[in-house]
Amino acid sequence: MAYEIWHMYILGLTTLGDSAASLICDGKLIAAAEEERFSRVKHHSGFPYNAMQFCLDQAGIGIGDVEHVSLYWKPWILGHKAVQALKSLVISPDMFSARVDRGVAQVSDSYLGMLKLPRMIRRRYGGSGFRFRYLEHHLCHAASAFLVSPFESAAIFTMDGTGEETTTMFSHGRGTRIDPLKRIKLPHSLGQFYSAVTNLLGFDMFGGDEWKVMGLAAYGEPEFYEFFSRRVLTTNGNYDFHVNIRVLDHHLAKRYQFSDEALEALGPARRPGEPINERHQNIAASAQKALEDVVLYLLEGLHRQTGEENLCLAGGVAFNSVMNGRIINESPFKRVFIQPAAGDAGCSLGAAFLTHNTILKNQRVFEMDHAYWGPRFSNEECAGALGASGLKFETLPDEDLLPRVARMLAGGAIVGWFQGRMEFGPRALGNRSFLADPRRADMRELLNQKVKLREWFRPLAPSMTEESSAEIFGVHRNDPFMVTVFTVAEDQRARIPAVVHVDNTARPQTVSRETNPRYWNLIKEFERLTGVTALLNTSFNVQEPIVCSPNDAVRTFKGASFDALVLENLLALRPEQ
Ligand SMILES: [Fe+2]
Repeated sequence: MAYEIWHMYILGLTTLGDSAASLICDGKLIAAAEEERFSRVKHHSGFPYNAMQFCLDQAGIGIGDVEHVSLYWKPWILGHKAVQALKSLVISPDMFSARVDRGVAQVSDSYLGMLKLPRMIRRRYGGSGFRFRYLEHHLCHAASAFLVSPFESAAIFTMDGTGEETTTMFSHGRGTRIDPLKRIKLPHSLGQFYSAVTNLLGFDMFGGDEWKVMGLAAYGEPEFYEFFSRRVLTTNGNYDFHVNIRVLDHHLAKRYQFSDEALEALGPARRPGEPINERHQNIAASAQKALEDVVLYLLEGLHRQTGEENLCLAGGVAFNSVMNGRIINESPFKRVFIQPAAGDAGCSLGAAFLTHNTILKNQRVFEMDHAYWGPRFSNEECAGALGASGLKFETLPDEDLLPRVARMLAGGAIVGWFQGRMEFGPRALGNRSFLADPRRADMRELLNQKVKLREWFRPLAPSMTEESSAEIFGVHRNDPFMVTVFTVAEDQRARIPAVVHVDNTARPQTVSRETNPRYWNLIKEFERLTGVTALLNTSFNVQEPIVCSPNDAVRTFKGASFDALVLENLLALRPEQ
């Protein structure tokens, strides 16, 4: 007699900005991906049709097999947004009308759309057995970190632009429980503060340009720190913070409008495209320091309240890797866990685990120790893409391919490296990466300006074997997800200049032999040739989302100027080589 084995599938969804889907089976992650990788629209906002279908295909199931579908948002919590709109009436009537217009558009496009989701999914995909849940945004963030962390108990700190109304949350995670301890609400938002500074500096906060402010900060001095910490982002002695929107308002900043007080203190805002000067660098350095100091202060409170030595971080602000470095070095917490999709995409992961562990009270059986949860493509599929594009290629076994790629890298080539399952989260971690020689000081400029077509000051990061991090940093560091910045040991800086930022820091990916053996072996091949156990690793994309499929990689290869493309076991060289 045959018995069918029953599995519990739970699907988590993020649908507004950085849309994504995550699927878990019996409490273990099966698949997770951002919709942007399929749609090729950065930070895709809207239902993640492709990502959800990929998750179901990866598991070999249909929606009829899914028992629970959980969304990362409670669309009916709009009250605080209305209060915000009224507050803006006091500051700027012009802004008020824009906000009302936008609010109406948002409600009809997205929040009401969310209420229709269960029906839409049933109608489009069939299957009516699943139970649909709307979950609090910051609880999803908290779950996305804690429930997949190695910790049995931990303090959890989540911070972003905003959820339904909460922007920052203190929680305590124990076993499968997550107890919120404090919620800080709009307009007091660390994410919105940083976004406003992003626009003040002439960058685009909708395009995710917050990275640029952090990169630029290393070049400046905190000349304006007093202004930010006394007038804009203040603390009140109760492990709380306050953003003074009369001085720097996120919504006005969206339209490059700033208060007289801000302009008087900081000088004129930088227009997009205007050359970057020392003052801009100093504004970035000052805002960065103000953010870091407030977060360290809040964490002191969270530590007191929980007594925990473990900390989980999530929310978009948790991508601030410079801040994370200070948290590791200066906060009272001994261990810190941040998963690779710490932003809203990761809420799909959190929604699924929150449902499985916290709501349904199932034991935790999963720890996220790598980011490779996206699609994988076979050598045949890769050959198909290369063949269709007319590119010549060779097929090589790993024992020949890896030493050859290492030799090319040591000889100065930039290689598009595509293998295995795509990363979940914004960092390329050796499966969809541009690789280059970190010993060459000119590589940063070459990659930023000739290949990736972006600003000169963007730092580039190293991948290194786990075992070599102690040598490079002078103390063992473990960060498989490239979310923390550390100071490079003095004697190592000149060895890998392309991946050491102007302030002598680097944001490493420590590569594990267990979770990515092929990439680990490639780094070891490079070490055999050069004595350096690190590669320069930056995401495989040119002004687009990171490549997902072999076709994306081939199209990028044809349109950009890098030297070689590796798709699994296939190697294509640029014709002139
Ligand atoms: Fe968020």
